[in-house]
This record gives sequence, structure tokens and C-alpha cells, in this order.
Amino acid sequence: MKGFLATLVASAITGALAAPAPPSPAEQGPITARANAAACATPVTLSGNPFAARSIYANKEYSKEVISAAAAITDSALKAAATKVAQVGTFLWIDTRARISVVEDNLKDVPCDQIAALVIYDLPGRDCAAKASNGELAAGDITTYKSGYIDPIVAIFKKYPNTAIALVIEPDSLPNLVTNADKQACKDSEKGYKEGVAYALKQLNLPNIAMYIDAGHGGWLGWNDNLKPGANMLATVYKDAGSPKQVRGFATNVAGWNAWDLVPGEFSKTTDAQWNKAQNEKEYVKLFSPELKSAGMPGQAIIDTGRNAVQGLRKEWGNWCNVNGAGFGVRPTSQTGDSLVDAFVWVKPGGESDGTSDTSAKRYDSFCGKEDAFKPAPEAGTWNQAYFEMLLKNAKPSF
Ligand code: BGC
Repeated sequence: MKGFLATLVASAITGALAAPAPPSPAEQGPITARANAAACATPVTLSGNPFAARSIYANKEYSKEVISAAAAITDSALKAAATKVAQVGTFLWIDTRARISVVEDNLKDVPCDQIAALVIYDLPGRDCAAKASNGELAAGDITTYKSGYIDPIVAIFKKYPNTAIALVIEPDSLPNLVTNADKQACKDSEKGYKEGVAYALKQLNLPNIAMYIDAGHGGWLGWNDNLKPGANMLATVYKDAGSPKQVRGFATNVAGWNAWDLVPGEFSKTTDAQWNKAQNEKEYVKLFSPELKSAGMPGQAIIDTGRNAVQGLRKEWGNWCNVNGAGFGVRPTSQTGDSLVDAFVWVKPGGESDGTSDTSAKRYDSFCGKEDAFKPAPEAGTWNQAYFEMLLKNAKPSF
């Protein structure tokens, strides 16, 4: 790169003395390619769909996991397919304070035609309605969340104003406050979730950032009785944060399994289906987005399609852990065919576990022991080679 810049400077100097000949097509080619691969030269201001002219940066952490997974595969066709997954732009989860250490390395090389994508996920009392993803901060420890987690991330983001960044904010947290408010752990977490999410939205409201607040999925907040309370919950926290400009809307199906537009929906034949019109994510977005807007929040969506290729696997809609038989879904794209949906994205890094199947583990959740859950499975967030290979074999479209 240094050599390339030196050449440009040299020709600029020459140009001042005598008009240089226009570059030949052969010269233009590599220059264009390099220019595209470079970071933006000026600060990025995101407005409108941040994915429209940008592909998602394939972060180094997931790429590394996938490349070593591919190396462990002997079948040559499958190995070649696995290698391609390393190029899929996937969200990077900052799920502990220690994980902040990889953020900078994953921002510094993002080309100008790409967008870095991260998940903010470390609230005190995290995963209050389940056990598998219980976090490092105890309920009530909002001080550490603010000063030990959000503030250091913001400080790093401020060093990279020329890099576009998309964020999913705190999966499951606000939806849990809507439907699991009666659980003691969620009661203990409620104040911290609201204050923490509002703080995150306010502090992360930088021009080069676009934020999407997690809104569960159609089988969660899509029930007739949950739509309004769900939208009000998100919008209230958004307003508590001062209605930050860079909030674009909401994320659905994060680490989920629902189809985008399957008709009839997977669970539309169940007896309680009459109470839920959000039988696929497209319908959910169509119902939830206007509710959000009337509650005073922007309503653009992104949908996690990372693992939703195969339908008909879950015994119940609420089964969320390492669903057996799943496959990688539609690749990230802003071509969604739906004006409410900015992009189909891969939020959950396929191959990383949803939770351990070890019944003696502290974070063992019975959902990870269900009949339709893949076993054995390691702790949430850690690599499951067999699961990855299954996703790959069942991918639609295939790799
Ligand atoms: C885990 C996180 C992990 C994320 C992505 C969550 O279920 O709790 O630790 O980073 O999944 O794999």
C-alpha cells in the first residue's frame, strides 16, 4: 500500500510539470480495485439503508473459525464449500468485556464499500428467561455495563469515523421484558435492561453507525397481544435515549429459525395459530413496523437468515436451541424485495452453539436437551464442528 501511495504522489508531482497521459485501461483496473479495498477517505455519515451500497465485512474472528473448520474436513467438496462460508459477512458478537479486544482489529481494514457488523450483548443479568447465555455481569451491575463495556466500545468507534458500522442491540433483552416479566430473574434485570439499552443507544449514536434494536421474532412478539406492548417497550427505551438519529429500526429472528416468507407458515396449523398473524418474518415485520412507528420509533428491519434454510424441524415454535437438521439460509443482501427490510443478514455465526447439552453444566438449559436439539453441543458461543458441517450440507442456496 505504501508503494502504491508513493506512485500516486510521484505522478501528481510529474503532473504539475507536464499533463500526464490518461491512464490506460490496464492501469485503471488495479487502481480501481485497490481504491475499492481501501477504507473511506472521509468520515461516513449513514442515513437511509446502510446496506444498500455496502456489503457486510467478513470479520476475522468468524473467518478464522470457519477456516479451521474447513481444514478439519476431509471430503474435498465439503471442504471447498466450507471455505466459502469464511467470506460471508457475519455479525461479530461482543459478548464479554474481554471480547472488546478484537473490535479494533475488525474495524481497521473495512473497505469503503463494506460495513462492519457487530452485536452489543453484555447486559447485566443477561438472558434472564433462559440459562444458556447468562452473562458475566450480575443483574444490577449497570455501572460496569456503562463504564466497562459500552464506554470502551464507543471510544474505539470514535477512532474510526471513516468506517460504516451496523449494530444489533442486545438480543432478547426487551422482548423478555414483554413476555417474561413474571420470572424473578427478569424482574431483577428489568431496570438494568431499560437503562442499559437506553445508554447504549445514546452513546453509540455516532454518524457512521446504524442501530437495530432486537425485537425477537414472529413467534415471540408476533402474537396479537404482544405486538403493541412489544412496540411500546422498544419505542419507550428509544425515547428514553433521546430518540437517537442513528437508530434505524429493529432486528428480527436473531439466532432464530423462522422462514422469511413461507406460506403457510410452519406453525400456522397449530390450535393457537389463530392468535398470531405473524406466521413468517415477512408478516411479522409488516405487523410490527407500523406499531413501532405509531409508538414513535423508526421501523426499518433486518432479518437473520443465517440458519433458517430448513423448515419443519421444531416440535414447538419456542424451541430455540441448536435445532437439529438446520441449514445455512439466504446470504446477506440488501435485495430483500420489501421496502421495510433493509437487509437479510447473518447475525448468529453458524457453527457457534446456542447452549450446552451437558446437563451438569451451570448454564445447562433444558431447551438444549429437547428432542429436536442437536447433541452433543458445547457452551453457547463455542464452536460445534458437527453442527457447522450439518448447516453446510443443508444450506439453501448451497455453497
Ligand atoms: C452466546 C454468545 C455468543 C453468541 C454468538 C450467544 O448465544 O451466548 O456468547 O457470542 O451466541 O454465537
